[in-house]
Amino acid sequence: MRQAAKITAGARSMGRQAVRDGLTTKQIDRAVHEYIVKCGAKPSCLGYEGFPAATCVSVNDEVIHGIPGKRIVRSGDIVSIDLCATYKGFVGDCAGTYAVGEVSEEAKKLIAVTRQAFFEGIRFAKVGYRIHDIGEAVQDYVESHGFSVVRDFVGHGIGRGMHEAPEVPNYRPEERRPNPRLLKGMTICVEPMVCAGDWRVRILNDGWTVVTADHSLSAHYENTILITDGEPEILTMADDI
Ligand code: MF3
Ligand code: CO
Repeated sequence: MRQAAKITAGARSMGRQAVRDGLTTKQIDRAVHEYIVKCGAKPSCLGYEGFPAATCVSVNDEVIHGIPGKRIVRSGDIVSIDLCATYKGFVGDCAGTYAVGEVSEEAKKLIAVTRQAFFEGIRFAKVGYRIHDIGEAVQDYVESHGFSVVRDFVGHGIGRGMHEAPEVPNYRPEERRPNPRLLKGMTICVEPMVCAGDWRVRILNDGWTVVTADHSLSAHYENTILITDGEPEILTMADDI
């Protein structure tokens, strides 16, 4: 898991460097894809339930699962990249949202709050707490800054599969849902998806791209983490993210 996650984190750094004015979302994907292959790993998203690329690239009001293509990113845009790599049978998964050139104050704040929400959440990602303690902390932090968290998509366990039990919501679930204890050795993905406006989303006709229903900006930040009886180990952390 550590090795797979390290490659995944490196791929996010490569993608981040390709988030530049004038480049297409496909070019961003290519930077990620080439890096993963060069590391001897497999881009796990490519072909996953038919997804056609290594990277999900989501711009502005696109929340997640954007399909890379001809769209050119421009100064003022915010771009979310989300990617997975499989190495020796184990999967790493991480995401981040990055600004192209100069962006609005609101966009800057959204990116910062989304990233910090991850860190607020993982304060409870250790032995002695339960899964929902993470999401409650994420939601409270995000809402205290005037933003909202997506409900229709959640974080997840990860290991030999990209998506394993348990689900890791970024909010207080309304109905009674299983709320497992966090145990030493679990690997999970904590991934706040945050909207500047309302949290409701819809899916575009391409069958993948998730956009905010009110077209407000959205940001995403994700790492694969290891539960311990102390602080969690952030397996996909790198210096620049
Ligand atoms: N990396 C995403 C996640 O956080 C999943 C990508 S969906 C795919 O769970 F179809 F693109 F693989
Ligand atoms: Co994930």
